[in-house]
Amino acid sequence: MCGIIGYAGDENAVPIIVDGLKKLEYRGYDSAGIAVFGEGGFEVAKQKGRLAELEKRLESLPIAGRMGIGHTRWATHGEPSDINSHPHLGSGSKIAVVHNGIIENYKQLKERLEARGIPFASQTDSEVVAQLAEHYYEGDLLDTVIKTTNALEGSYALGLMCLAEPDVLVAVKKDNPLIVGVSEQGNFIASDVPAILKHTNRVYYLDDKEIAVLTKDSVKFYNTDKEPLAKEAETITWSVDSAEKGGYPHFMLKEIMEQPKVVRETIQSGINIDPLHITAFNKIVITACGSAYNAGVVSKYVFERLCRFRAIEVELASEFRYKDPCVDEKTLVILVSQSGETADTIAAMREAKAKGAVTLSIVNVVGSTLAKEADHTVYTAAGPEIAVATTKAFSTQLVVLYKLAVQFALELQKLTPEGAKALLEEIAAIPGKITELLNHVDDIQKYAASCIGYKSIFFIGRNIDYAIALEGSLKLKEISYIHSEAYAGGELKHGTISLVEDNTLVVALSCCQRLYPKILSNIEQVISRGAKVFLVSNVTQAEESDKLSLLKLPDIHELFSPSLSVIVLQLFSYYVAANKGLDIDKPRNLAKSVTVE
Ligand code: G6P
Repeated sequence: MCGIIGYAGDENAVPIIVDGLKKLEYRGYDSAGIAVFGEGGFEVAKQKGRLAELEKRLESLPIAGRMGIGHTRWATHGEPSDINSHPHLGSGSKIAVVHNGIIENYKQLKERLEARGIPFASQTDSEVVAQLAEHYYEGDLLDTVIKTTNALEGSYALGLMCLAEPDVLVAVKKDNPLIVGVSEQGNFIASDVPAILKHTNRVYYLDDKEIAVLTKDSVKFYNTDKEPLAKEAETITWSVDSAEKGGYPHFMLKEIMEQPKVVRETIQSGINIDPLHITAFNKIVITACGSAYNAGVVSKYVFERLCRFRAIEVELASEFRYKDPCVDEKTLVILVSQSGETADTIAAMREAKAKGAVTLSIVNVVGSTLAKEADHTVYTAAGPEIAVATTKAFSTQLVVLYKLAVQFALELQKLTPEGAKALLEEIAAIPGKITELLNHVDDIQKYAASCIGYKSIFFIGRNIDYAIALEGSLKLKEISYIHSEAYAGGELKHGTISLVEDNTLVVALSCCQRLYPKILSNIEQVISRGAKVFLVSNVTQAEESDKLSLLKLPDIHELFSPSLSVIVLQLFSYYVAANKGLDIDKPRNLAKSVTVE
């Protein structure tokens, strides 16, 4: 994973880079580092631990320069340590590099360089880039980058500086994101927009193997044959505030609270994917990772119920890509992803395309790989999501999937125009109902505060309630570190119930009126074995008891109820983690954008 940023301009690069790294910490946070072009050459500060540790170090040992590169790391090769942190310098300290990605042939390259007497300092794959570039350097950094990247296998987004060229910053990427930002005060490279949004909203998206050469006053692009490229800058519409906490203690809480707005904007932005005709397909496969996969599981219930379509499958992208999937030109493969950069989801898309399938991506980040490479793209309007655990992006994915299902059902003549209109009105009412629900934050907060002692929390539901239970459980374990699993209510008796005992909490979801008696008997089964139950439901008969706490949801169509239950589940997880005093926005071992397998 990892986040990189670079700056060439009139100002001191250090505070600009540190601030940008704060916005990129979601990509990794086990160590961080900066290299700037100082008075006498490279000045470097690298520190194991959170960015705050690097900041402390910079306070006591300041560095300064008008051009620099920075990195926040999620270790792949080599443990988190000062030495393994980026930037990496060649052994002659002539080239400095930050890298996001994995150099697959680093061992061979390292052996070759070591055989020539070049000493390596770290255990990382990335150092090989700095050493190789230094080895190849013959007076032109652009030539060096071309030669170096020609020798690399794997994925990379790179920022490079060279001691002999104090004004030049070079960037290149393959299979990992990299943008170039331009402003009056200087020019930038970054893994993602929020890192530089404070300074500019004019960005260029680099395509694979495109090289950017930046100085403080200019940006030029080249291909690997050193031919100049003409690229168009895009204007980012995200506001500067959208990447700041805005008074909230955590980005996650801010992002939960933004949901009425972003869900409304996503619903209103429409789905413009002509000429995609669902009647041309005989199978739909939805594939994604993490929460985006859970959005796919929810939507399978919606597609099936509304479209009565023959074959609708949901697959984890990491499984789909390696299973020789049965897809062809009559299959529509829907890829769901906040970042548009998840390595497994990208690989799943490429596998599907290679087999002739038509691909449709539902993506939040404009210009991301999934958005660019899929045959069709629908954007969610979640804005920048910074907390590692997704909330608002998930909610926007759900409404896009609902709308797609209605559109397909209409085309397949499984819905009348009136029926479709009524469902779209239900969908349009979701943001208002989320606002209504957010008035109960205090109740959820209070209840969650009483739950931090549980060793295990199970989530149960039936049908679409089960689908959203998966997301509730994932959210909880991600940020609270409490063991948690989600089960279909009917499955409990096939094994899981043996784990239910006195210190167990069961969160039961029930928004399917017709299945309420069924989930109620599951609830009784777990209560009689010592569990406490938190019931999230809009069913009229639902009521509290001494072993059961109830959170009542606004009334909503069963198929769209996950959009409300998930808000309670997000807040529940958030407050459990907050009461445990955990680092909610940056949970241990996780990163938001998983660009490695
Ligand atoms: C990580 C994040 C999750 C996210 C998943 C897929 O695990 O922590 O919140 O759902 O990646 O990411 P994507 O960007 O493809 O939605």
